[in-house]
Amino acid sequence: MVNFMKVLVVYDSVSTSKVTMKVAQTIAEEMKAKGLETDCLYCKDLGKEKVKGYGSLIVGAPTMAFRPSRDITEFLDSLEAEDVKGKKGAAFDTQIKSALSGNAAKGIEKRISGLGASIFKPHLVAYVEGKGKNSWELREGELENVKKWAQEAAEAILAE
Ligand SMILES: Cc1cc2nc3c(=O)[nH]c(=O)nc-3n(C[C@H](O)[C@H](O)[C@H](O)COP(=O)(O)O)c2cc1C
Repeated sequence: MVNFMKVLVVYDSVSTSKVTMKVAQTIAEEMKAKGLETDCLYCKDLGKEKVKGYGSLIVGAPTMAFRPSRDITEFLDSLEAEDVKGKKGAAFDTQIKSALSGNAAKGIEKRISGLGASIFKPHLVAYVEGKGKNSWELREGELENVKKWAQEAAEAILAE
């Protein structure tokens, strides 16, 4: 029996600013504050065996070259339907606010949905801005958006 109340947030984060990691941690904190048992792990720190222990899977990455970053793509490639099927799934990304940005979250959402997760909340986009030398930060107001998204996501899980 899948326990949706056990939530795994998996992320990649590439720059030294670790913006996507901060977004992932914020999502996990909000989930915990709503009473959900939540772990937040870097995608290279877990194998697919670990994924099996959770009922809800939230996956996020920076958008790089218009798509999900390399390491989250490798993580998704390592998953099979038997690891994901029947779980609740959702995706998020960080990206620049531009018509040409691409969207990692959409790609992740499609992948986990293709593996049999049911998407319980449309993906979250958190916009960043460059601060020079591959240094990034969330744009004004984005952290509040992330918290709101996470609270709504937690409520959607709790409503099951
Ligand atoms: C090589 C490279 C390619 C990138 N490509 C994109 C892109 O196609 N679209 C976009 O919106 N942002 C792009 N970015 C900006 C990243 O999305 C940004 O670095 C990321 O949100 C920072 O998150 P992190 O600190 O977790 O790595 C790129 C950044 C780098 C370094």
